[in-house]
Amino acid sequence: MNDVRGIAVLQDPKLNKSTAFTEQEKQTLGLVGLVPDVTESEDLQLQRVNLQLAQKPTDLERYIYLMNLLDHNETLFYRTLMSDPARFLPIVYDPTIGEACLKFGHIYRQARGMYLSIARRGKVKDILKNWPEKDVRFICVTDAGRILGLGDLGANGMGIPIGKLQLYTACAGVPPQYLLPMYIDAGTNNEEYLHDPLYLGMRKARPSTEELYSFVDEFVQAVQEVFPKCCIHFEDWTGVDAVHLLQRYRDKYCVYNDDVQGTAGIVLAGMINAAKIKGKKLSDEKYLFLGAGSAGIGLADLLCSAMTQEGLSLKEAQSHVYMFDINGLLEDTRKDLVDFQKPYAHKHAATRDFVAAIEDIKPTTIIGVSTVGGTFTQKVIEAMSRVNERPVVLALSNPTDHAECTPEQAYTWSKGKAIYAAGVQFPPVHYQGQTFLPGQANNFYIFPAVGMAIFATQASRVTDEMFIEAARAVANQVPSDLLKQGLLYPLQSNILETEIQTAARVANLVFDSGLARVPRPNDVVAFIRQHVYRPEYTGAATKTAQA
Ligand code: NAI
Repeated sequence: MNDVRGIAVLQDPKLNKSTAFTEQEKQTLGLVGLVPDVTESEDLQLQRVNLQLAQKPTDLERYIYLMNLLDHNETLFYRTLMSDPARFLPIVYDPTIGEACLKFGHIYRQARGMYLSIARRGKVKDILKNWPEKDVRFICVTDAGRILGLGDLGANGMGIPIGKLQLYTACAGVPPQYLLPMYIDAGTNNEEYLHDPLYLGMRKARPSTEELYSFVDEFVQAVQEVFPKCCIHFEDWTGVDAVHLLQRYRDKYCVYNDDVQGTAGIVLAGMINAAKIKGKKLSDEKYLFLGAGSAGIGLADLLCSAMTQEGLSLKEAQSHVYMFDINGLLEDTRKDLVDFQKPYAHKHAATRDFVAAIEDIKPTTIIGVSTVGGTFTQKVIEAMSRVNERPVVLALSNPTDHAECTPEQAYTWSKGKAIYAAGVQFPPVHYQGQTFLPGQANNFYIFPAVGMAIFATQASRVTDEMFIEAARAVANQVPSDLLKQGLLYPLQSNILETEIQTAARVANLVFDSGLARVPRPNDVVAFIRQHVYRPEYTGAATKTAQA
């Protein structure tokens, strides 16, 4: 209990029930006369929210409205999101979040999360202590080096950790008080923002890698001291930083990178189901990537681990994976490759022609993680259709206009043969009397569930096996009739239940691996359910002791 009363209750989004205070609460908390003299249910409040949202002309306006709602009433915000995830996830996250980030400094209303400037070197621990919650379990941190497919957005990238953590709660029920969005401000090379008077970050070019990494070292170390149960989720760093920072910390601390591991997990789930539609295994397939950055490499590595679980050696598994980047096919004479790309640089003639590479390598699956929209041209899809009965086309770059091709293009150009998924949500496609359901290979099926498993088990490390297990669990939850229509992922309408089941499987693995810091329960699904946040007002508006 604490003694917050009167107007201060209404100003605290965690305590505020708006029009839902009972008579007794109004009396006890000194609210009589400060709120309308009614006691509404959460559902009635939700009706009002929906009415107001319907009057907003664009999704960006709806995003701004929902963030304002969160500023005032956290429970009602999450109740809204969780009432219809398929409708609201695209507003609080992809694709609207891309536009919200581009305009972040302009639409800014209220501080949320923490801003940690590299100029504060030596002071990170003290700054972390300014955060009001003492038991933080997840920090989602970005330096905004590469936001979605939009490049270096500097402080405007803060929208991403905010949105990402909201999905932990909305999709998997991780309670919001344990979540801390964080922006490490290391400057930006974005000229437009550097000259924008409303830009909210440091007006400096980005530092050297060495300078950046030593600051991140201080941050990671400080987190261990200030929030010892915390898992650090790295998000939207440049590809090279993402992979290198993950390598730097993954064996020592509880950290993961969603662009590397979460993306890989969700795409792997889609690949498992695409192979299932064809009656094949992952290791029967051959993969050609367009893009060899953090998402591409993370996926290739996880895919190879999953193929080794099917009995291949790592070398054999790597021989199933080819990659293309901005300079053409990764092959063994290329001099510009970084360490983590080399396992996929096979003996092959140099080429910059993706269609010719398809004709020659004959991949069964192409995976677009290039950040460049429209790169799966008609010629690309036709070439895939020539060498495959059922070509698998995963056009994963986002936001929407960065997708390598649309589902309509994939189905039309392949004459209905393609098995397709994108990084963003597309509506069903009707082609020659058939309805195709394009899947959304969005990591929000994976990272919130893995997050819930980490939260509930207090896992001390995050392993690739946890993401493979999550992928298998997600893949398993697509009903066979929908799989037949080409749907590779579960429906979003039931996302909380899907993630509870996924989290339980990951939690089982955490217990099996000896990484849990709590005793193993008898019923792991029930144990996960006990940890799930429900967007309901509890008792009188009192701050429960979280400290
Ligand atoms: P990155 O910047 O690390 O890598 C991009 C790669 O694409 C580089 O290898 C680059 O050389 C290559 N590339 C750029 N232009 C190209 C071109 N015209 N032709 C061939 N290759 C080209 O970016 P990262 O982190 O790998 O992300 C890639 C994309 O994947 C982004 O659009 C991101 O939004 C998307 N993504 C999607 C997710 C999902 O859930 N579907 C999750 C994470 C990322």
